[in-house]
Amino acid sequence: MTLSALKMSKIEIRRDSSNCAVVNLHGATLQSWVHEGTEMIFVSKKSVFDNKKAIRGGIPVVFPCFGVWELGPQHGFARISKWSLLEEPTKDSNGDVKAVFELSDDDNTRSLWNNKFKLSYTVCVMSSGLFTELSVNNLNDSEPFSFTWLLHTYFAVPDVTKCTISGLSCLTYKDKVDEGKEKKEVNDLVTISGFTDRVYKEASENHVITNVAGGKTVLLKKSNFPDTVVWNPWIEKAKSMSDFGDDEYPYMVCVEAGYVANSCTVNAGSSYTSSQTIDVVSK
Ligand code: BG6
Repeated sequence: MTLSALKMSKIEIRRDSSNCAVVNLHGATLQSWVHEGTEMIFVSKKSVFDNKKAIRGGIPVVFPCFGVWELGPQHGFARISKWSLLEEPTKDSNGDVKAVFELSDDDNTRSLWNNKFKLSYTVCVMSSGLFTELSVNNLNDSEPFSFTWLLHTYFAVPDVTKCTISGLSCLTYKDKVDEGKEKKEVNDLVTISGFTDRVYKEASENHVITNVAGGKTVLLKKSNFPDTVVWNPWIEKAKSMSDFGDDEYPYMVCVEAGYVANSCTVNAGSSYTSSQTIDVVSK
């Protein structure tokens, strides 16, 4: 790694003049993805960049616990840890550009979650979209460990009420805005018209999301992320969040690929990999 890369806090993964992503080493949070000149990702204007608080927007990496965590901070430590750049952005024969980030256990992570691990996170900017892949290695001597994880993607949208999300029909979901009740999705396409916080179990591997930035449609493809979370804070929750503008909720929707409804167990010496590809399929 070059000295300049070592000093950087943000890594630009530029494919060409109109396709580029930026990953902040704080949490390895992708904080921008421009596809064909359009910013596809929402980051709150009130997001705090103090290298302590999680970035409010982008694609925070949630590990080793989704949601409230009895051992540590909500959504785990990965999104508030300083990652390192393992492989600098490199172009492949298709012209796509990939970088790899890494997080290993340290005194702080072991004080919360006493396991030895290595996480690696690959981000690839392609002409068709964005590929992201998380891998975890269990480096314990003999003990297995269990975790939940998720890519908390904040899509930028011009009007969230116009978005539709496919691949959730007939599924059971946990409705976190209604005391965690289990419900069944009755709509073919999910739309957002109020505070929404749902964990869909064993969702489709593919979600078509319409009317995202620039009016585009994207296809979110998951691998080894069995569940999908849909979140929009709407008015009251937005007002209660110090790092989210009161009027920003119409301009984002989180569709989050996760392994969260049950935990994933990895034996010592083994690894597990999950990935998400976001293809822009129209406009
Ligand atoms: C979602 C959760 O994934 O993230 C919500 O389902 C949560 O319950 C939201 O409110 C945002 O979490 P945080 O910790 O970034 O405010």
